[in-house]
Amino acid sequence: NAQEVRAIWTSDKGSMANETAENRWAKIIQGTIDDIGETAAAKDIDSQKKVESIAIQIALKSIKKGIEQNRPLTPLEDDGMPDIQEWNKQLAAVGQCSWTNCPWLFGECYMYRKIQRILNSSKYWQNYDVFKRQKDSTFVKSRVAVEELASRYVQILADTRLLQYQSKEETKKLLFIEMTEIALWGNATDLSLLANLTLEDLQNLQGREAIQKSQRNIVDNDIDDVWSYFQRTTGQASRQIDIVLDNAGFEFFTDVLYAAYLLDAGISTSVRLHTKEFPWFVSDVISSDIESLFGHLDSSEYFPCRENLNQLVPRLRKFFQSGAITTTSDPFWTTPFSFHELPSKAPTLFKELQKSYLVIFKGDLNYRKLTRDGMWPHTTPYEEALGPLGKQSGVKILSLRTNKSDVCVGVPTQSKVDVLNEEAPGGAWVRNGKYAVVSFNEGR
Ligand code: F6P
Ligand code: MG
Repeated sequence: NAQEVRAIWTSDKGSMANETAENRWAKIIQGTIDDIGETAAAKDIDSQKKVESIAIQIALKSIKKGIEQNRPLTPLEDDGMPDIQEWNKQLAAVGQCSWTNCPWLFGECYMYRKIQRILNSSKYWQNYDVFKRQKDSTFVKSRVAVEELASRYVQILADTRLLQYQSKEETKKLLFIEMTEIALWGNATDLSLLANLTLEDLQNLQGREAIQKSQRNIVDNDIDDVWSYFQRTTGQASRQIDIVLDNAGFEFFTDVLYAAYLLDAGISTSVRLHTKEFPWFVSDVISSDIESLFGHLDSSEYFPCRENLNQLVPRLRKFFQSGAITTTSDPFWTTPFSFHELPSKAPTLFKELQKSYLVIFKGDLNYRKLTRDGMWPHTTPYEEALGPLGKQSGVKILSLRTNKSDVCVGVPTQSKVDVLNEEAPGGAWVRNGKYAVVSFNEGR
């Protein structure tokens, strides 16, 4: 019974949850302390802002200490925002718990809200993004991959235009698979598993073989079902695709490219991108990251190979200016709730998602929330693990996620699980980011 599957706790020995709580959280907090210090050390900083930075650093250090000493999670103090009550209600519902002995999903979300509470309560640091420096520097490091993808997309653009006039469904489908895989592996920032094919490749056997090979590490792959859903529904006049984003920088670049492709290929009529309302899980996209992406892409200091980018970037911008791509955010995305609670906690958002042609959830955290961070047997059908967002929900859900935590469902058979366990022992295939899922459910 789905309700009996318990969620993973940070006290579960040998889990990613445990490893994260014991070894990574304190480092993440230290990163924020260092970042504030660096910003406050700038010559031109306002003196009162500088003074306030000390108090902020002290407050952050106290979170870090709490984690290191495994102190109890305590109610969040009021910071004037309407959501605090709900957090504390949820904490009370969890009951007595501490950093390394709490439900992983709740504890981790709570940590990011606790950081934000400190900034919200400040006078000079209210809209400051403690992770921006890190996001920017990581993006700049992905220079080669960005330039490569830009070149690939300029090529694809020519191909998709070509494809509008020919009826080779098989080739169109292969192109769709390739673009989906770019957005998928963008979540890993490791593109070594991509096939990287030309239109010619796609049209011949080697192309098909290369695509098949690239899909080896996708342990639940419903891409054929997504394609047939598109085939069945092209007649629909409005086909808005929603993408619930994950990380800024490189992954976000692949997502914007994917959005552009979905429009260029005529699969969707508009795309809506969902960002987070405050800095979340280090690198998640907040609204200021959008302009930041374009700022970076425009910079020949960061991306000196301009030829393809100069063609591509204005084109991407145009999608935003024309309203073909829009952005939105909802407070629900930065709550500790799993998406099983979406219908009850965010009914308006839920109704909107029901109307969407397809809702694409990017990344690991979204997947954890979709599956309630539950310790499901790996062969559990995706539909079942989705709970209220599964059967008869009316929401068409596609998850593009590289496996970086403890939960993974939808593996077709136990014998496949056995093969994976042999190939990547100790649950590595669920955690190391080299395996992935492309899981689709039509909510029928
Ligand atoms: O692995 C730790 C972690 O912080 C998880 O909590 C989270 O699921 C993941 O990293 C973030 O990954 P993503 O950006 O793909 O959601
Ligand atoms: Mg993320």
